[in-house]
Order: sequence, then C-alpha cells, then structure tokens
Amino acid sequence: MILFKKATELSEYLDAQRKNGRTLGFCPTMGALHAGHISLIETSKKSNDLTVSSIFVNPAQFNNAQDFEKYPVTIERDIEMLEDAACDILFIPTVKEIYPDGFIHLKNYKLGFIETILEGKFRPGHFQGVCMIMERLLKIVLPQHLYLGQKDYQQCMVIKKLIKLIELDKIITTNICPTLREKDGLAMSSRNLRLNPEERKKADSIFKALSFIMTNFEVEKTEVLKQNAVSILKENGFTVDYVEIADASSLEEIKIRNGKQKPVALVAAFLNEIRLIDNLILN
Ligand code: PAF
Repeated sequence: MILFKKATELSEYLDAQRKNGRTLGFCPTMGALHAGHISLIETSKKSNDLTVSSIFVNPAQFNNAQDFEKYPVTIERDIEMLEDAACDILFIPTVKEIYPDGFIHLKNYKLGFIETILEGKFRPGHFQGVCMIMERLLKIVLPQHLYLGQKDYQQCMVIKKLIKLIELDKIITTNICPTLREKDGLAMSSRNLRLNPEERKKADSIFKALSFIMTNFEVEKTEVLKQNAVSILKENGFTVDYVEIADASSLEEIKIRNGKQKPVALVAAFLNEIRLIDNLILN
C-alpha cells in the first residue's frame, strides 16, 4: 500500500494511473476501521484496478466539540487492516492540508429538504461539513466508483446530491454497501469503540427497535410502530433523537402506507454521551 499525505502528490499519482487506463475505486473513512470499512475495500477491489482509501477525522462535520475530541483514533491498527485487505493507496492528510484556509463553512451547499430532517435537523451544519470534505476528497481522487456504507443512509443521499451539485455525476458512480452487524445485530460503527461493557450490552436495542418495526410493519400503524420502538430504546437507557419511518428514496415521512413506497426505518439515539444511528429497509 502506498501512503500519501499531500493532496497534490496523490492527485498527480492518480492522474498517471488514470492515463494508463486504470480504474479507481474510493472508500473514504474517518478511521477507527472495522469489518464494515474492510467490506467496502473488498467490494471496490472486485470492480476497480486500484482501490484508494482515506483516513481523515473531519473537524468540519462535528456539530459537537466533545464528539470530535473523543472520536476514536486507531491509526496504526487501521493501516494494518488496510494492508491486510490489500488496499492499494491510503491518503492520510492533516487538517492544514485539507483546509489550508480553515474550515469555517465558506460555501453553502444547496441540499434542500434532505438537510432539514433527521440527521440534518439534529446535527445542524453536519451535512455542510460532510459536503466540504467530500468535495475536496472527490476532486483530489476523481474515482470512477465511490463506496459508502448504508448505515449512514441519509449521508449517502447527501453525498449523491453533492456529486450532482458539483457536476461529477457523469464521472463518479456511488455504490451503497450493506451495513455489517455484530452477532447481536448492532451495526458496526467506529463509535462503538467508545461504549463501555455495560453500554455495549444495551446497544443491541437499536437493532431490536428496528426489527420490531420491520416485523410489525404490515400489521401496525406507523405511529404505533414508532412509539413502540421509542419505548424499547428508552427502557434500555437510550435518549432518543428520532425514530422515523420514511420513503427510502426521498426520506419523506410515511404517515399512511400506499403499498407503493419503499420504506426505511431510521433511528438516532444516545446511550449516555454516545450517539448511535442505524436503519433498516423494510421489505
Ligand atoms: O462516514 C464517514 O466516515 C464520513 O462522514 C466521511 C464520508 C468519510 C466524510 O468525512
């Protein structure tokens, strides 16, 4: 694996690879890697000549300073995992390299409705920060294929929208890869590293709440399903930001089912200080 710290050096290297006809797959991360990230690398390797990953804990996307400070950093282990997965190229820039002029939101991405709901509503500015880093990374790497995890469902939609806004949609195809889960159903996430043993035992309630919605979707009203899911979470010590059942293509709330929607259930909830998110497509 070749490691780059400078954006221009990486761009030049990748330009040369592209000129030689090599296809590029890109898996951006914030490190603290787990099997979910590695599955993105493996998927990319099947369809591209070269797989590029990046590790950058993007300060611009944290709406909560403590969450940023406590974000797990396991860089040596991450590098080993990427080497084992035969990732070809790793980009590990500094904050200065990515944001030479600072990271106060200089640009306002017109994301529309998607930014006003769920993660957008509970984490003001978060998606603007995601767009800032993703625009920067995508323009440096210019991959043919981008790989993202379904766990961050709304983020995937935002990044697809960004790619259109910055007119890279003719070059980049976005591939959304399935969420990997622990044996008890907990979605793999870097933030799981912050859970203490007691919290970890309770954390499977998110999957239980989502599974409850999935199992009862055909027979119960959406309001009742959401209330029950909130109860499951609260009984297990969670403070709930939202439980929503929405149309998977727009994320508009489904109040009345018409049989035509493809529904997705989404959850965000805190276990003490740690905020976890997850979702299930209901089909
Ligand atoms: O999902 C993540 O790890 C981050 O939000 C991303 C897409 C790498 C942007 O910083």
